[in-house]
Amino acid sequence: MKSTVSSSYKTIKTDILVIGAGGAGLRAAIEVKKRGADVYLLGKEVLGCAHTGMAMGGMNAAMVAPATGEFHARITIEGGYNISNYKLCRIFGEEMPARIYDLEDYGVIYDRLDSGDFYVWAGPKQKYPLNVCVGDYTGREMMQGLVDQARKLGIKYTDEFFISKLLKDKEKVCGAIGINLKTDEFVVFQAKAVILATGGAGRMYEVTTNAASNTGDGYAMALGAGAKLIDMEMVQFHPTGMAQTPSSRGVLVTEKTRAHGGLLKNKKGERFMSKYYPKEMELAKRDEVSRAIYLEVAAGNGVDGNCVYLEVNHWPKEKILEVIPDVYEQYKNVGVDISKEPMKIYPSMHHMMGGVKIDEWGRSNHVDQLCPGEVAGGVHGANRLGGNSIAEGQVFGRRAGIGAIRYSKTVKSTHLDEKEIRNEIKRVNSFLIRKTGIEPQKIEKALKKTMWDNVGIFKDEKSMLQAKNKVEKLMKDAGKMKTRTVITERNRDLQDCLEICNMLETAQAVIEAGLIRKESRGAHSRTDYPKMLPEWEKNIAVSKEKGRIVTSLLEVER
Ligand code: FUM
Repeated sequence: MKSTVSSSYKTIKTDILVIGAGGAGLRAAIEVKKRGADVYLLGKEVLGCAHTGMAMGGMNAAMVAPATGEFHARITIEGGYNISNYKLCRIFGEEMPARIYDLEDYGVIYDRLDSGDFYVWAGPKQKYPLNVCVGDYTGREMMQGLVDQARKLGIKYTDEFFISKLLKDKEKVCGAIGINLKTDEFVVFQAKAVILATGGAGRMYEVTTNAASNTGDGYAMALGAGAKLIDMEMVQFHPTGMAQTPSSRGVLVTEKTRAHGGLLKNKKGERFMSKYYPKEMELAKRDEVSRAIYLEVAAGNGVDGNCVYLEVNHWPKEKILEVIPDVYEQYKNVGVDISKEPMKIYPSMHHMMGGVKIDEWGRSNHVDQLCPGEVAGGVHGANRLGGNSIAEGQVFGRRAGIGAIRYSKTVKSTHLDEKEIRNEIKRVNSFLIRKTGIEPQKIEKALKKTMWDNVGIFKDEKSMLQAKNKVEKLMKDAGKMKTRTVITERNRDLQDCLEICNMLETAQAVIEAGLIRKESRGAHSRTDYPKMLPEWEKNIAVSKEKGRIVTSLLEVER
């Protein structure tokens, strides 16, 4: 094992660098390669193991009449409480069916009826069903198809690679620097265009459906490079995360369960949704169901005082195994047979609606930096509809690929700033060489608790100010983080240090935007401003100037 800290690095040149190998990043890389351009793909996890693989229920697309692309766009905008970018939503609805067929070409075998038609199910707001699925493991199948296709096309990639900073040539992004997580060696990627597809930031919350890799890396790096983020205050809590055992806490229980007749009940056996949304019941929107569960537990009607029941034990077992086989296994693994007993569930942080402000080609305000997938903001507004996440990554992943090719053709040469590279190497190595300091895990734990307690399903000025102060303190502490060993191969503490810095930056953006929005809209539920107000039908933008967060209001793009 190596234990000498190195400051050397190697440089790899490529026309287009894709950072992130989940659904959106893979789709972008495939498009670039397919069109004959030079591309290099980087993933933080082993190839194929990105968070996209954890998506369960499906992806929305107007595959079956009377659903249309226009209908898909409309309910996405309505579901997002009218602050989505209308143009992006229209493109999304229109192009999604073609992306479903692309995935089929890559080998994804969707659930179909005996007639051969797609099997589609209806999530919240879907008067006409849109949700195309593969059992309740749609993300896994999608990842297999995308990885297969990437391999077939011979896309160059390195997995288990962590990009820690975007590099700039004056005002333009010209590459990125990071470490190979297997060897902790530094590599600089010099590129004409960079596609940032790093996913979300669920891990800054104590309870989340997100994989360990979702640590807000893209939001932090984009902010650092001068990009504008929008709607960062809009953090989605999925109503049904597992609440059975501490070890399984937060794990996703797909909405498909409720859409196929799963019932939510309190400790008295009442279908409590009738008190909150008597018409929609279990199929109210995610923000609505999450709030109802929160309130029901807070009123003392929770099971064990901290969760509620989700029941499918009235279904025939064959139906359970056909519709939600993974959910069945998830509970079996913690000793519960859901064909006989109810599931214990509670909301779990699930998705960042906000992210880098993009145009229709995934371009941020720096055209050289293209952002598809969860790292981007604009499509989902104040509340994302189930089935719109892995779907969106396909439409805007492809578009970012096309945008990157177009942009890269306009770039004659790029120039790396040696000082910028040296400073980043020094920052990363500082965590290894510091003699005394703070364990990264301590800071991470405090951040997760702060976000869960103070910036959760409900929030107010006081709770967000508390969180703001705590995050500021943790940011100072983060400057003193220290790895437990100096080993420079697979030093997990080093990765933790880098990820914690990114989560803190992301948390700061969420809190600052949340404090500005003085109303309740979708996932942003303020007890001190409980009403949704027409004057707030706007986007809040967050950027960084001279190291400080700056916020501004933007008109919704219609
Ligand atoms: O409930 C689910 O299966 C999650 C889907 C989604 O977030 O799109």
